[in-house]
Amino acid sequence: MDFYEQVQRAADSIREQTDLRPRLGIILGSGLGGLAERLQDAEFIPYGQIPGFPVSHVAGHAARLVLGRMGAREVVAMQGRFHYYEGFSMRELCLPVFVLRALGVTDLVVTNACGAVNRAFAPGDLMLLSDHINFSGQNPLIGPNDERFGPRFPDMSEPYSAALRAFARESAARLEVPLQEGVYAFYTGPSFETAAEIRAFQALGADAVGMSTVPEVIAANYLGMRVLGMSCITNMATGIADRPHSHEEVLAAAAAAGDRFCALAEALLRDWPE
Ligand code: HPA
Repeated sequence: MDFYEQVQRAADSIREQTDLRPRLGIILGSGLGGLAERLQDAEFIPYGQIPGFPVSHVAGHAARLVLGRMGAREVVAMQGRFHYYEGFSMRELCLPVFVLRALGVTDLVVTNACGAVNRAFAPGDLMLLSDHINFSGQNPLIGPNDERFGPRFPDMSEPYSAALRAFARESAARLEVPLQEGVYAFYTGPSFETAAEIRAFQALGADAVGMSTVPEVIAANYLGMRVLGMSCITNMATGIADRPHSHEEVLAAAAAAGDRFCALAEALLRDWPE
């Protein structure tokens, strides 16, 4: 079975398991899965019940699709995502994005927990992604191209929709939730960065660094989706922070920012511009 058929088979299976047909999707990052509890009339589909779906084992990530409503909008949330450092190929870990597109999702919100490279940021801040730096040397689109999905050489001049960013800024201002904006650098992990790497990222123009999101955003752009990216800053990056990092610290900081994150994300989904 080729990749196209694999994607269609997973989408068909989801359609058989729910009557909801959302056009809006959200990928929930480490410690941010609580947003899914806010969906009304929620239906849950464990990844294990979707043929071909990878299954993640990282602490802080559930492993299921949650479909439901936020106000009048139907939404599909990925509660738990896949990371390159788990050993998946870039293409495997992006399969869910292809499947969401095949289901009819046209707009995708990507979220993550990340470290601040910009010294003006602080743990607990929320940051809108204005752009990214793919520092991995990898790309989910490497390999033969299937034109049924998208073009061989997709444009990446506006990976995060300018219109959606303006909408997010307005929503945050209305809710009085402070919102930073910056460039996210993708580092594969699983080791955290060295202090020298963080100085290099500063010189390259990054504001934040994390181990996810960029592969899915490349795939989503390729598939013609509109993307909005939102990070939760959980710590200052190596060399700026005054102590060693741990995954527990990341999860605790994301949970502490959870209420603000969820309030903003809920408003965005509810008022989403068609
Ligand atoms: N580096 C990389 N990924 C992260 C960090 C970090 O400092 N914090 C949360 N995710």
